[in-house]
Amino acid sequence: MTTDVATKRDFLAMEEWGDDGIAALLELAARVKRGEISGGLEKKVMALVFMDPSLRTRSSFETALFLHGGHAVVLEPGRGSWSLETEPGAVMDGDKVEHIVDAARVLGRYADAVGVRAFPRGDDWSVARQDRVIRDFAKYCEKPVVNLESARRHPCQGLADALTLQEHLGDPRGKRFVLTWAWHPKALPTAVPASAGIAAAMLGMDIVIARPDGYELDPEDTALIRSIARRNGSMVTIANDPDDSLVGADAVYVKSWGSVKLFGRPEEEAAERAGLRDWRMTQPRLRNTRGGRGIVLHCLPVRRNVEIDDAVLDGPNSVVVDEAENRLHVQRALMLELLK
Ligand code: CP
Repeated sequence: MTTDVATKRDFLAMEEWGDDGIAALLELAARVKRGEISGGLEKKVMALVFMDPSLRTRSSFETALFLHGGHAVVLEPGRGSWSLETEPGAVMDGDKVEHIVDAARVLGRYADAVGVRAFPRGDDWSVARQDRVIRDFAKYCEKPVVNLESARRHPCQGLADALTLQEHLGDPRGKRFVLTWAWHPKALPTAVPASAGIAAAMLGMDIVIARPDGYELDPEDTALIRSIARRNGSMVTIANDPDDSLVGADAVYVKSWGSVKLFGRPEEEAAERAGLRDWRMTQPRLRNTRGGRGIVLHCLPVRRNVEIDDAVLDGPNSVVVDEAENRLHVQRALMLELLK
């Protein structure tokens, strides 16, 4: 049986569900976490396509499906399933065996929903930022497509971040959320920090984005975070000092990301990043937060003593494991909502 692609509901970016849609999902996730809802996904199948590695996303989705009576099929293209071509109109005489157009269409016939992870590829940000792989999967798959982290967004992480903020801060509205850059040996994607900013803006938090000059998020993402914050009565400020930016923070989201201006130019990007190792979350730095009690979030995986010190990760301010646990609960809610 086929579904009308025009009427299905994907989960590609939090902003596409609106403030009310996300609030409803978070409410459902809290109920799921309290054990108020069992079953609901019996005989439902979700295909999970991982074009890049994962610990949390894969294991939390598999667990979510199992807990509610469903089943997950995990595919790793190029490692046990055919390598996937992603270029529209490609002449496929190279090493790629199957086009995502066909993979999306076929998986949509087996599964009730399809999740896709595809980090940014190539060397041109103006192309990578179009998020073509996840958008094309959604275009050609007749069932709901869930973004498991694409070039621009990690909405399941954003949902878990939002639930964690609600749990630890009560009503987060008007509280101070500092998204702070951290040094990392690699230039990482911007999907997580953009999604964290969107999540905090949807909760009505005042947001500080602290990053060294040259590490601005994609301007469209910053503008989106600003517009969501404005709609919710809060504001966004940009800072470039790793200490002053933390003053009065209720929550600190530590994350590394690469320079989008130098995307695809790894040597120049590495040279730009080289002098920035001091951007690391330390115990003394944490004392700048509100009463020294600001909570610390990170999506994980984290480079210990590079992005965040052991003393912080293992100390009382850290909520990173709660945040990782919440991936499970928000995804249980998401699948119940998408497949009800
Ligand atoms: N935070 C997150 O998405 O973790 P994984 O990359 O391990 O899935």
